[in-house]
Amino acid sequence: MKDILQQLEERREVARLGGGQRRIDSQHAKGKLTARERIELLLDEGSFEEFDMFKTHRCTEFGMEEQKPAGDGVITGWGTINGRMVYVFSQDFTVFGGSLSETHAQKICKIQDMAVQNGAPIIGLNDSGGARIQEGVDSLAGYAEVFQRNIMASGVVPQISVIMGPCAGGAVYSPAMTDFIFMVKDTSYMFVTGPDVVKTVTNEVVTAEELGGASTHTKKSSVADGALENDVEALTEVRRLVDFLPLNNREKPPVRPFFDEPGRIEKSLDTLVPENPNTPYDMKELIAKVADEGDFYEIQEDYAKNIITGFIRLEGRTVGVVANQPMVLAGCLDIDSSRKAARFVRFCDAFEIPILTLVDVPGFLPGTGQEYGGVIKHGAKLLFAYGEATVPMVTVITRKAYGGAYDVMASKHLRSDFNYAWPTAEVAVMGAKGATEIIHLKDLNDPEKIASHTKDYEDRFANPFVAAARGFIDAVIHPRSTRTRVPRTFASLRNKQAQTPLKKHDTLPLRPPPVTFLLTQIPPPRPPHPATATSLSATTPP
Ligand code: HXC
Repeated sequence: MKDILQQLEERREVARLGGGQRRIDSQHAKGKLTARERIELLLDEGSFEEFDMFKTHRCTEFGMEEQKPAGDGVITGWGTINGRMVYVFSQDFTVFGGSLSETHAQKICKIQDMAVQNGAPIIGLNDSGGARIQEGVDSLAGYAEVFQRNIMASGVVPQISVIMGPCAGGAVYSPAMTDFIFMVKDTSYMFVTGPDVVKTVTNEVVTAEELGGASTHTKKSSVADGALENDVEALTEVRRLVDFLPLNNREKPPVRPFFDEPGRIEKSLDTLVPENPNTPYDMKELIAKVADEGDFYEIQEDYAKNIITGFIRLEGRTVGVVANQPMVLAGCLDIDSSRKAARFVRFCDAFEIPILTLVDVPGFLPGTGQEYGGVIKHGAKLLFAYGEATVPMVTVITRKAYGGAYDVMASKHLRSDFNYAWPTAEVAVMGAKGATEIIHLKDLNDPEKIASHTKDYEDRFANPFVAAARGFIDAVIHPRSTRTRVPRTFASLRNKQAQTPLKKHDTLPLRPPPVTFLLTQIPPPRPPHPATATSLSATTPP
């Protein structure tokens, strides 16, 4: 017995070494941790339960039968983050460059299936040279099996990808279908085709970092949600994010003890909005002053900064925040900000996370760049996302809420539950000056008359009371009491139930509804049409 136990330990020891000490040293020399070190940092100490430590590939091409490292380049299993269960896979670059074989894919698929079945998030730590070149189509099939499970898991359990090394070719599509992507600066990159292919096809000369590094994907393409300095910071941030999220779509987001005054009065908010309506102010100040302990987890901080998205807690409960940022492009909506916010709203709605919307929006950004880029369709995505959301929604208009952007930003008409306005709010079709110049075209050359008309328009429309008189604003409040009012209102909405008409799925967004919805809501199939029945019973032609 003693021998057998010893043999087991020896086998484990070999498996833990992955591709061997030389390659581990090389990984460290690049400033990267090994796959196992990453798991240790990500999970609570001692909580990791590993699957398939001894699984090996079955490839016999190119002398591969001589090299069968235990685990085949990916470490999979489950563990806990602050006591809450997550599934994890971590690709081991020291084994065939972390490349994905049939076996490697099977290991990932196993934990994807377990995660959906048991309702726990999936975290993928990606560090891979892509498809295992020696395996050919078996590897491609393995990728597709992983992709299919990403799709099935979407909206059922949160999926988080951390890119901690190369991620190229079709390999990028698995992370792309997950909910959040984080990249490590300088050591990770993502692209469909690398710099050499780009040079051959388009004659562009570009480095891997420029083409698909963390900066590119967090600032230009918006493929990634955050860029972190190193492996340790990336894993710490993932732990922080997981604390905000529910484990699956069947449960509510976590509630955790809070150490902030629930009814905190923030007098400084009374002077947050400047006297001059064209002077910017920092909307993040409002977010920090409303949030428990000022804690804000921002998503896509470096992209489309005219809109802010992220998570806070109110009285210990997770809330998603979408807020216009007057400091950038005056907080207007455009293609990038609409897409960014729409995706965030849809994530919150899929996982029952209530949404707080803070509005100061002068409208949609005009121009050919926007129109040619399809701002109509992209703006519609945000409109669509809010309009189909059934989670509790609270809106606070701090200043401008003009035109179509007023409608889009979680207005009462898009099923928002409670819409507050500060006394500084201006709910109108457009700003007073622009409106006057259109209505009083004949007086355009008379500055005195224009000034008087503008004043008149401001007095009549540049306030929250016209909308409040219609019931489109539920209450006009002192800014200082925002932190008191908003959590109380969310508390009143905890048992909200909103209905959506029966459908298979809508046509704009790309995600199907959860399987549970389909099973309970879709009517039984109709009997086959006689013509179909006949063709099915016909014999198969040669
Ligand atoms: C098998 C691979 C591999 C791969 C790397 N290795 N990529 N083995 N399949 N795809 C092995 C190397 O042979 C080497 O083995 C070890 O991993 C480390 O690789 P190095 O090249 O020494 O490392 P580095 O210099 O850091 O370069 C990393 C790299 C490079 C940039 C990823 O290895 C590379 O370009 N690999 C090929 C990438 C690629 O073309 N993949 C296929 C993409 S197409 P030893 O034994 O020396 O340690 C694709 C299609 C997917 O993925 C489609 C899905 C739908």
